Amino acid sequence: MSLLEIVLFPDERLRRVATDVTQFDAHLAQVADQMMSTMYASRGVGLAATQVDVHQRFFVADCADEGKPAAPMVFINPIIVDREGLIESEEGCLSIPDINDKVMRSESVTVRAQTVQGASFELTTGGLLAVCIQHEIDHLNGKLFIDYLSPLKQQRIRKKLEKAQRHRALDAKDFL
Ligand code: NI
Repeated sequence: MSLLEIVLFPDERLRRVATDVTQFDAHLAQVADQMMSTMYASRGVGLAATQVDVHQRFFVADCADEGKPAAPMVFINPIIVDREGLIESEEGCLSIPDINDKVMRSESVTVRAQTVQGASFELTTGGLLAVCIQHEIDHLNGKLFIDYLSPLKQQRIRKKLEKAQRHRALDAKDFL
């Protein structure tokens, strides 16, 4: 299974708003599988299609506690239909390497979505999965967790990551 390249902030492709999935075919299942493998290889708990430059509304997640069996999940055309409570969550993002910060999220959410086969389901959940669902749906809308931070913090993060990417580009040249 080949891994997919994750688009990194501040790449503008992360700002595109994804469109609904209408074709529930083998290609969709394959991309979802590749996204799951890419997520596991990157040690993430969620990955939105937007992050692999596929601008359709779906994401994969596995928010099982460490040491517990894997719980891979795919959410196609997800919509939050209910939310309750507020919590502060410490978040990171595979598209924004080595940055973590606190964001306010709903404590629990009810999400309506479809499986890769197109079957509808509804899920009410709290904990890490609830935060993950909100974070990944934001990606599908072109929104990042750092958008919730102060402008000053956002500017610092942008500078830090642009510098890191310049260094990566230089390192890559050494191996040409
Ligand atoms: Ni993310």
